[in-house]
Amino acid sequence: MTLSVLRTVASLRDRVQIWRRAGERVAVVPTMGALHQGHLSLVEAAKTRAKRVIVTLFVNPKQFNNASDLAAYPRTEEDDTAKLTPLDVDVLFAPGVEEMYGSGFSTTVSVGGVSEGLCGAHRPGHFDGVATVVTKLLLQSGADLACFGEKDFQQLLVVRRLVADLNIPTEILGCPTIREADRLALSSRNARLTPEQRRIAPAIARTLFESAKRLASGEDATSTLDAARATLATAGFDRVEYVELRDAETLQPLAHVCGHARLLAAAWLGEIRLIDNVPVLPRNS
Ligand code: PAF
Repeated sequence: MTLSVLRTVASLRDRVQIWRRAGERVAVVPTMGALHQGHLSLVEAAKTRAKRVIVTLFVNPKQFNNASDLAAYPRTEEDDTAKLTPLDVDVLFAPGVEEMYGSGFSTTVSVGGVSEGLCGAHRPGHFDGVATVVTKLLLQSGADLACFGEKDFQQLLVVRRLVADLNIPTEILGCPTIREADRLALSSRNARLTPEQRRIAPAIARTLFESAKRLASGEDATSTLDAARATLATAGFDRVEYVELRDAETLQPLAHVCGHARLLAAAWLGEIRLIDNVPVLPRNS
């Protein structure tokens, strides 16, 4: 089957309508391109749950709070198309900025609660941009299912919240983070790391997994988090933005592990901001 590349909302809607008439279930995988195995695992998850799969490719200017980050974001549509073709994806929806945000565009979807703190505190406007574009993509595609990676854990919770609050009839599936052999979480930003930064980068995952183990075995949260921040600085990160223990559903700070907890971190290597997170399972679970 050939992959159709569609660039307008009208053409996407026409295609989805044909599938709907045939009673076919539709899944969407929103991406900003520069596809790696993490994205491809979302596509595979979508394919096992829906007859039709749409991958969206849109580098969303509204979610970048830094113009140089937007300019440096990799744009590799040809490579992305080549990666999707063997996976039997039905449609690559790759609209331009004008199609998504036409003249007079004035609406922002802003999610409270889970979007505050962590990345929300350090990237003003980021989650408004994500929530706005994801709302549009879900409404444009009318998908039954949408797949998001747990790598962007806060984003996943923001999307779950907006879908519930706005009664969008799309099921949200969170998929596990895909990691390199040294446990570095796959990210489009990894391609920009120098060899020296790439050597340092896995310390973020290593530190999170080790700290999660310590927390699960009952060690004090404040000292464990302080030690994790110090470990990242010593490993060579230029700036540690946060290492935090949070409730895995509300993202409220936790003083100790109870119920479902998540350990989340963000740290900089030069101009590159890496994030990662791991579950913390309470003792005896
Ligand atoms: O995770 C991403 O790549 C983006 O934030 C998303 C969900 C495609 C929205 O632009």
